[in-house]
Amino acid sequence: MNFNNEEREIILTRYDDMNQRQIPLYPLRDLSVEFCGLQLENPFLLSAAPSTDELSMAARGLEAGWAGLILKTTSMPGTKVDLAYPMISGLDWEDKRLLGMGNIDLISRYHIDEVTERVRILKKQFPTKLIGASIMGSKKEDWQTLVSRLENAGVDLIECSFSCPQGNIGEDPGKMLAQSEHAAEITARWVKEAGNKVPVLIKITPQVTDIVKIAAAIKRAGADGITASNSMPALMGVDIHSFAPMPNLDGQSTYSGLTGPAIKPITLRTIAEIAKNVDIPISGNGGASNWRDAVEFMAVGAENVQICTAVMHYGFRIIDDLTSGLSHYLAEMEFASVREIIGKALPNIVDHDSLRRKDVKCRIHIDSCIGCELCFVACRDGGHEAIELRDASRIPLLREEKCEGCGLCKQVCPVDGCIEIR
Ligand SMILES: Cc1cc2nc3c(=O)[nH]c(=O)nc-3n(C[C@H](O)[C@H](O)[C@H](O)COP(=O)(O)O)c2cc1C
Repeated sequence: MNFNNEEREIILTRYDDMNQRQIPLYPLRDLSVEFCGLQLENPFLLSAAPSTDELSMAARGLEAGWAGLILKTTSMPGTKVDLAYPMISGLDWEDKRLLGMGNIDLISRYHIDEVTERVRILKKQFPTKLIGASIMGSKKEDWQTLVSRLENAGVDLIECSFSCPQGNIGEDPGKMLAQSEHAAEITARWVKEAGNKVPVLIKITPQVTDIVKIAAAIKRAGADGITASNSMPALMGVDIHSFAPMPNLDGQSTYSGLTGPAIKPITLRTIAEIAKNVDIPISGNGGASNWRDAVEFMAVGAENVQICTAVMHYGFRIIDDLTSGLSHYLAEMEFASVREIIGKALPNIVDHDSLRRKDVKCRIHIDSCIGCELCFVACRDGGHEAIELRDASRIPLLREEKCEGCGLCKQVCPVDGCIEIR
């Protein structure tokens, strides 16, 4: 069927009532981004995890449309990788499954010989995709051998796991490399000494006192970028009858790495702090599940977004939602490219002292109120005792003179738009 231009315009756009304009319905925006000199077809990468640990799975992920991947962390031949199962546990909240996911996984069982072979195969099969590999060593020669072997195999990017307790160089056993400025700096220097063909990213942990100092040390060492960040050390739960911690391995367990939506705010803070203070490219990782999260990661300074838990939960096909959602968003916001989003929120993140001080009050739209009393209870016992109930009814009444505009009532209200802060 042939359409003239006017018809095509009507078909491909919808009218946005709020802003009174036509907006595109199927906008196909160019999502390509450049990262450390590498061209990506979109900003979405599969992060080092089980989804990239088998050649067949990695290939399926790339076929599905991911711009690239980081193969699960590999090591020198002979490195013992002694897994314990079950390794996954979940953080549920009421009827919501996997708000966060915990794992006690280790690095890949596949050593460097196998991984270099995979890099060759994937590079041949997917020449335009980013084929990255993650490494972890325990001494200088290991790190350097891993780097040169991967470079020789034709890898596009090397990510160094400095957020693995096993990767320590012996200065403080049990501590991750990225928890020490000194260890992070010298190890990153070794890696850069050994490799000069492809960009090297250092994958850090958010669990440090001062992330800016760690990022600055990594930059001083000459690394090309930072992956911010990895899972968050956590204890996933305890069975209150058997007192077995989670995941339960015959009544015992150990600390997990928490991933998924629960850690998104921590990752956003980590990326933002680095982006505001250290001039180094950032690959955002930790808690992104959809295109909106990805936009937030980029708005605070990430140049691309790596995803693991959402893929483990919903499969490789989420890439379709990620790319179409981002494409529509760019069109709706009239951004010409992904690059325009990067860092856009950073000027709005300020010190507490610089925040504006203004008289704000909450406003309750009674016509939307369902009488659940949640705002009343929250304000009474956690706010400023500013909400009362009208007589015997369940309709809240605001005592303006007591309201500080803290926002708690709006957060507990189950009806969108019923309470606003003015
Ligand atoms: C089961 C599992 C295994 C993982 N293995 C590795 C690994 O070998 N190397 C690594 O750098 N990160 C590893 N990660 C961390 C992920 O790459 C990613 O940093 C983390 O899951 C946070 O991202 P997400 O919230 O999108 O899952 C693993 C994560 C999970 C869930």
